[in-house]
Amino acid sequence: MTIIGIDKMSFFSPHQYIDMVELANARGEEPNKYLIGIGQTEQAVIPATQDVVTMAANAADEMLTASDRKKITMILFATESGIDNSKSGAVYLQRLLGINPYARTIELKQACYAGTFALMQARDYVTLHPDEKVLVVASDIARYGLQTSGEVTQGGGAVAMLVAANPMIAEINQDSQFLSRDIMDFWRPVYADTARVDGKYSSNVYQDFFKTVWTRYKAKTGRDIADFKALAFHLPFTKMGLKALRDILPEATDEQQVALMDEFEASRVYNKRIGNLYTGSLYLSLYSLLDNSQSLKAGDRIGMFSYGSGAEGEFYSLTLRPHFSAGLVTGQIDTLLANRQYVTIADYEKIFNNQLKGAADREFDFKGDPAKFVLHGLKNEQRQYICN
Ligand code: CAA
Repeated sequence: MTIIGIDKMSFFSPHQYIDMVELANARGEEPNKYLIGIGQTEQAVIPATQDVVTMAANAADEMLTASDRKKITMILFATESGIDNSKSGAVYLQRLLGINPYARTIELKQACYAGTFALMQARDYVTLHPDEKVLVVASDIARYGLQTSGEVTQGGGAVAMLVAANPMIAEINQDSQFLSRDIMDFWRPVYADTARVDGKYSSNVYQDFFKTVWTRYKAKTGRDIADFKALAFHLPFTKMGLKALRDILPEATDEQQVALMDEFEASRVYNKRIGNLYTGSLYLSLYSLLDNSQSLKAGDRIGMFSYGSGAEGEFYSLTLRPHFSAGLVTGQIDTLLANRQYVTIADYEKIFNNQLKGAADREFDFKGDPAKFVLHGLKNEQRQYICN
């Protein structure tokens, strides 16, 4: 049977960041609360010249060949911070990236979970149409507001994944177990540009959903923790994944516990420095794991836990392919992080309050933004995108 899965992955986050020690000092908190208690060291700062469309375009552009662009017949755009209540972000991508016009374009939403649903839809589509490719993007800006308890868990960026037959990175196994429950742990009403959250409750529900789908997964598949070389988690902040992992670590031998903890550390290297990117967080964590693990090899099974508030949880597995590292853009995230510009907390606050809002025409100076795709402003209530 033809193997279907993730062929390539690429990541983008804007060129500025703040330091979590400085944010802690500015907010009158102990730095170790942010560094250890939350598990974040830096946070991406999103300028007015980037939105979910430009971030997704910047991520996908770096991995797509001319042949990929011709073969893509579907673009699935997962986001919970979309820019329009009608038109999908995927249509903009089709034009900006020069993708085959005979492609379907659609946006998907269920909090941070939609990227996983998009990936499953892509896999099933390519199973039926193995000569075609599907572009999945998960792009978000996590905004809670200045001086809120969620501020330390902000961030933003986009992960792009190409789903194809005979993939380079990993097979997406047909073993998902999922759970939905109508709750209010985190949401964003249509009139609001920042999330509403019941923080402690959301963390408890996350852990509860993980344990429930994990237990169901084991019962349905007959597998147990010994079958996994690593587990990757949705990481709204990296301590969240650690809490979930600790819930099931006692099921492993002492030796495997050490190995799983090592892989977990590898899986949060990048997320610690970017922050939350909602739909893309689990996939940045996967990228971090693949890039930073010292011991993963072909054939290894990786457990994936996806969580979207409101709420939906899913656990599934990936099986690594022989040349999985070749599916990542070499050195991409190290270069991105090395080139980021530090900003002070005072400047970050100004940038945070200078986002595109309202219907009036506006123009942003995009010369300081080194990204290829930028948002130039708003004209006649239409976003103006530019290829730099
Ligand atoms: N040294 C080390 N650790 C310290 C410390 C210190 N000096 N001071 C405090 N800590 C620890 C605390 O003990 C606590 O650890 P535990 O959770 O293990 O008990 C941790 O730091 C955080 O402290 P608080 O609980 O007091 O923090 P808080 O009340 O300020 O809020 C938060 C934390 C609830 C995560 C808040 O940042 C928030 O609401 N974030 C947004 C919501 C969120 O991310 N929820 C996650 C699940 S929902 C989801 O996953 C979807 C999504 O993407 C949003």
